[in-house]
Amino acid sequence: MRLDGQTAVITGGTRGLGRAMAEAFLAEGASVVVAARNPYDIKELADDHGDRLLFHPTDVTDETSVAELTVAAVETFGGVDVLVNNAGVSRDGRIARLSVTDWNTTLATNLTGVFLCTRAVIGPMVARREATGVGGRIINVSSCVAGRAAVGAAAYSASKAAVEMFTRTSAAELAPKGITVNCLSPGYIDEGMGKELASNDRAWESYRGRLLSGRLGRPSEIGATAVFLASQDSSYVNGSVVEVNGGLMWAA
Ligand SMILES: NC(=O)c1ccc[n+]([C@@H]2O[C@H](COP(=O)([O-])OP(=O)(O)OC[C@H]3O[C@@H](n4cnc5c(N)ncnc54)[C@H](OP(=O)(O)O)[C@@H]3O)[C@@H](O)[C@H]2O)c1
Repeated sequence: MRLDGQTAVITGGTRGLGRAMAEAFLAEGASVVVAARNPYDIKELADDHGDRLLFHPTDVTDETSVAELTVAAVETFGGVDVLVNNAGVSRDGRIARLSVTDWNTTLATNLTGVFLCTRAVIGPMVARREATGVGGRIINVSSCVAGRAAVGAAAYSASKAAVEMFTRTSAAELAPKGITVNCLSPGYIDEGMGKELASNDRAWESYRGRLLSGRLGRPSEIGATAVFLASQDSSYVNGSVVEVNGGLMWAA
């Protein structure tokens, strides 16, 4: 029970990788606030962990909505120890045809959302540290395309590269407050956005040769890394980008 007594806020925790991280955190004893716009199939998880799971309707692009999320977490579980900035969208399109709406939606969700949620938890994390002596943990979720060029992913990869830089700056600014900030960079995972790759034979063939593991990642492998970054086991890890991508090479 590496997260016993801890409260984690996971944005985009209703499905995909966020859901896998929520399940992993619950299994390690944490209370979890799942934040997304729609509840989807969170009911089953809520039935199993009713007293330790809260779904809070949240739009991470909206400052007021994010502020309400933090208030709900503090009122329900008494504080916030861990924030996972996982909510994300991908709007693919070559630059020549990419709409401003798709560009703005991608940046607002993947980057501004990370900024708003990070800013909102600083106060509660500092208060928690004063009360318990345990510092906060922030885990941002980027992507293997943050540092690799992928045709059609200009908005998405630019937003994720920015998240990695935001991680380093946040780690430097928040270290004096006892908060560590790290980034989890997934490769192609057999869940959420990654499932589309697996179902597209041509795309999968072109990526398989670049994967040292030769397979897609499992959602549980993302959950296990997130638990490590959220727990005291990672006490000397700060400002890092942890790649969980099965050994994805830069070129085939
Ligand atoms: N799956 C992969 O292979 C992979 C690889 C690399 C990186 N990633 C990253 O991992 C994260 C999760 O991806 P995923 O594949 O699990 O995606 P997903 O299945 O599409 O889930 C995205 C989650 O984000 C939430 N979300 C989207 N916009 C939101 C908003 N404005 N406010 C609050 N919540 C919002 C969604 O809920 P609502 O729509 O109801 O709000 C949903 O819960 C993303 O940051 C993604 O970039 C995934």
